Amino acid sequence: MQSTRKSAIINVIERAARKAARGLARDFGEVEQLQVSRKGPADFVTAADLKAEQVLREELTKARPKFSFLLEEQGEIAGEDEHNCWIVDPLDGTTNFLHGIPHFAISIAHQRDGEIIAAAVYEPVHDEFFWAERGIGAYLNDQRLRVSGRTVLAESLIATGLPFKGHDPEPRYFQTLQAMVQEVAGVRRFGSAALDLAYLAAGRYDGFWEFGLEPWDIAGGLLLVREAGGMVSDFDGRTNVLASGNILASNEKLHNDLAQLLKKALAG
Ligand code: IPD
Ligand code: CA
Ligand code: CA
Repeated sequence: MQSTRKSAIINVIERAARKAARGLARDFGEVEQLQVSRKGPADFVTAADLKAEQVLREELTKARPKFSFLLEEQGEIAGEDEHNCWIVDPLDGTTNFLHGIPHFAISIAHQRDGEIIAAAVYEPVHDEFFWAERGIGAYLNDQRLRVSGRTVLAESLIATGLPFKGHDPEPRYFQTLQAMVQEVAGVRRFGSAALDLAYLAAGRYDGFWEFGLEPWDIAGGLLLVREAGGMVSDFDGRTNVLASGNILASNEKLHNDLAQLLKKALAG
């Protein structure tokens, strides 16, 4: 496999992600101890999440002082430079983290004039640093990534996100799930949209769909998928998925079949 030297912006992202991840890893170790207490680790995890976001904000600001931010917890922060923005989810997969399940990540995307041009999703437990730069490619550590080559739905493994309490329920979701399970080899709910997209970019599975995601859930992952040769759209085929939050991502060969399947399910 081909490897490449990381650019300055990817190095900035990596340094920030690794620093924040050290705190998250320590806190993840604590969560197991807290599981057994009656109150549980919920407040502790909220604090871990906020701490990670603060570390990311500080590190990214140190490297690029004028950039703006869209942070999951702190929201929009206008910088002197309105053209360049960091879109950050400090902990994607919070529910996994809270339950001691080692499947969570930090997602950081650099958006310039509305386009994501550099991004990373870092999964600290297995030290998997997924990163991409527009026009350069997508990588896992220093290995070039390609989406899977599967062409047949019946052989494909598809990831999704289920609705959950406290999140506006999308009633039509179950129509799409029912249609999907009848056509594909398997459906998985891993609990981190950022990693769902990173795994898709790595060819670990073949497609992903979810309703109602936020920009910080998907901004990093969508560049990974596109740079790994995959396609990302909403359910109507539009490519500006950050606006709608409804996302269908897959390799190029399956995209049309999956889009048709969802369209039919949503109409029915
Ligand atoms: C969540 C995860 C999950 C997805 C949810 C997101 P969080 O993000 O990405 O997979 O189904 O819609 O909110 O809350 O863990 O950052
Ligand atoms: Ca998230
Ligand atoms: Ca989060």
